[in-house]
Amino acid sequence: MTEFTFDLLATDSGSAARRGRMTTRRGLIETPIFMPVGTQGTVKAMLPEALKEIGAQIILGNTYHLFLRPGHELIRNLGGLHRFMNWDRPILTDSGGFQVFSLGALRKIDEEGVRFQSHLDGSSHVLSPESSIAVQEALGADIIMAFDECIPYPASREYVAESTARSGRWARRCKLARSQGDGAALFGIVQGGMHPDLRAGSVNELLEIGFEGYAIGGLSVGEEAALMYEVMDNTLPLLPRDRPRYVMGVGTPENLIEGVSRGVDMFDCVMPTRNARNGVLFTSFGKVSIKQARYLADPLPVDPDCSCYVCGNYSRAYLRHLYQSNEILSSVLNTHHNLHYYLGLMQGVRDALDGGRFGEFKKDFYRKRADNPS
Ligand code: GUN
Ligand code: ZN
Repeated sequence: MTEFTFDLLATDSGSAARRGRMTTRRGLIETPIFMPVGTQGTVKAMLPEALKEIGAQIILGNTYHLFLRPGHELIRNLGGLHRFMNWDRPILTDSGGFQVFSLGALRKIDEEGVRFQSHLDGSSHVLSPESSIAVQEALGADIIMAFDECIPYPASREYVAESTARSGRWARRCKLARSQGDGAALFGIVQGGMHPDLRAGSVNELLEIGFEGYAIGGLSVGEEAALMYEVMDNTLPLLPRDRPRYVMGVGTPENLIEGVSRGVDMFDCVMPTRNARNGVLFTSFGKVSIKQARYLADPLPVDPDCSCYVCGNYSRAYLRHLYQSNEILSSVLNTHHNLHYYLGLMQGVRDALDGGRFGEFKKDFYRKRADNPS
């Protein structure tokens, strides 16, 4: 069984950016990396073959959704999530600590875990540190996440302190609940809200327990971008250099570039896939809302500089038509382009770091947006 490792290959001279490589039991992952989100055992509107074609190295799955439907035991019996969804590259599963807490009034939290009502049929369930790990192991994920609470924003300092301490105790129980020797890596999740001292306390607790990687949770929960960067600035330097760092649920292309500059190795977000289904496309010169009347007869591809299958074959006019007509292919083509953009952006970041020109890359990134013709 391959052991999980992380190698730091290079660091940028002008920022905290890092070029790294993870080895998992299902192969290598070059970092910095963006992970497409496949909540329900599918990255919406994407064939696995298409994901590979655009260079997806790892995708995300969700404990909460797959636990409720179709159930982790069913997936285990059918050979695990990789086999079930026909994806043989690495999978990271989130613990449910975010989805359960998005349920609002439908949940009740105590020391044991979270009791919640299914968003599907109202049935009552409990997720605890132990059961979250058991579900993630049954799914067969290669990287599994500790069960935590994603703290809403704003929240009182008192609540943030209490919740962060509880997530720390839960992290310890997750570590204890792990089956040894299955080759999957367990990541801890730093909480602490927007308070530097509570973040530092959370890091110390997780370091004492010891994880194969460290995530920063509780970001992109409604705070200003500047505050999110402040939390990153305060927290990232406290994490060990030789372990991967993952900022959860982030973000825009700008957020990715700023996160990389601060030393983040991994990101995930529904933004490229969700926005695609809403007709919002990402390009090197900024966002394009394809529903706009200005694209009615526009023969150009979405992004003339994009090398993806969509930009090679279809006009803005056609994509607008598909969107306006509510055609399924609209989601397929828009998602393909957006994920190609996100994955290509991170490939560009890695190439720039390899070539010692990340600073230049970042300047170009912002210059193209400032020159935005749209
Ligand atoms: N996704 C985005 N933020 C979070 C978080 O704080 N915890 C977990 N488990 N998942 C997340
Ligand atoms: Zn494209």
